[in-house]
Amino acid sequence: MLGGVLRIKCHKVVVFCCSLISVIIIFHYFKSNNNSYPPNGFLESVEDTYRHYRGSRKRINPLDFTYTIPGEKICRHRSPFLLIFVVSLHTRRSQRDAIRSTWGSVSIGKPWPRSQYGNQPSNPPPNLFTKVVFLFGYHPNDTHNRELLHESAQHNDVVQANFTESYRNLTRKVLMGLKWARHYCPQAKFVMKIDDDTFVNVPMVFDYLLSKDVWERTIMGFINIDSIPFRLYTKWQVSWTEYPYMRYPIYTSGNIYVFLSRTSCLLLDVAEYIPYVSMEDVYITGILAEVIHAKHRLIPLKWYSPYKTASPCELATNKKMASQMITAKLHYLVWKAMQEKICD
Ligand SMILES: *[C@@H]1O[C@H](CO)[C@@H](O)[C@H](O)[C@H]1NC(C)=O
Ligand SMILES: *[C@@H]1O[C@H](CO)[C@@H](O)[C@H](O)[C@H]1NC(C)=O
Ligand SMILES: *[C@@H]1O[C@H](CO)[C@@H](O)[C@H](O)[C@H]1NC(C)=O
Repeated sequence: MLGGVLRIKCHKVVVFCCSLISVIIIFHYFKSNNNSYPPNGFLESVEDTYRHYRGSRKRINPLDFTYTIPGEKICRHRSPFLLIFVVSLHTRRSQRDAIRSTWGSVSIGKPWPRSQYGNQPSNPPPNLFTKVVFLFGYHPNDTHNRELLHESAQHNDVVQANFTESYRNLTRKVLMGLKWARHYCPQAKFVMKIDDDTFVNVPMVFDYLLSKDVWERTIMGFINIDSIPFRLYTKWQVSWTEYPYMRYPIYTSGNIYVFLSRTSCLLLDVAEYIPYVSMEDVYITGILAEVIHAKHRLIPLKWYSPYKTASPCELATNKKMASQMITAKLHYLVWKAMQEKICD
């Protein structure tokens, strides 16, 4: 008796769920048909968008930043070969300090540790210099902005502009960095963008950059193909209004990517005419890249695992070129392992 009732209830639930799923699928089908113009291809639609906006010469995405911490002295004395932008948050001071005391110390002229493990990446030629710069927006709580100003006075590696610091403004933040580079660090050869939980083996990156001749209009990172926008309500949500197409163009993940500063300038040139998308990596290395006909180069996967955090010893023994999800503590640990032979 009870079993029968349960079965009927269960049956109803299944029917209900199936209907719901069908409705969602039909809804998405219509959505996609209404919005993907031309119907079968992202590529053309981006170019159409570009032509449309560029044709009307309307700066729909103006990049008019007021620098509250302009960092005008950062590149004054020495122009870097590699400019590394680290996207950070005001409250993550310990993470920044970890970078400054470990791999980022090359930015103030400290030497890279000699390898204890016999597989030394060649030392960067002494004339090739790296500069690490942390990027910020404006924090709603002014205490944090004042603290950042102190930090900048101490380390001279901070740039802040007057837009509200928020995840949805991340694209704006990186574009701000690129614009800053064009104005305040125009001699930099390469520009790299990373998150503040990334460990970078700078000599390995140098080796790689120098080993390839052709970097013109090339973006190196982990390549994503045919990704679908995340429409559900979360931090990563991208609405149909914000991005009215089914798929993203090819783009490189935001943890780490690098290109020539010449390429950076080309991207900047078109950015003001292309509708803003809050996914920074999609917008900069995908949409804008498509518009300037940039190519993507896959970061060598033997040296970088996109979904897996490298172990401290893999980083210390030059088996990995970079890794994300490296906490402050791990940064110090890797650095120590580079200086003392504690990995086998
Ligand atoms: C601003 O930040 C400081 C430092 O974290 C904190 O002590 C203060 O309560 C914050 N003020 C407001 C209004 O949230
Ligand atoms: C930055 O913007 C905020 C809010 O728009 C404003 O109150 C503040 O005065 C601006 N600061 C500077 C230095 O422009
Ligand atoms: C992004 O920054 C702009 C400029 O300060 C601000 O008007 C806007 O509200 C910010 N967006 C978010 C989502 O915080």
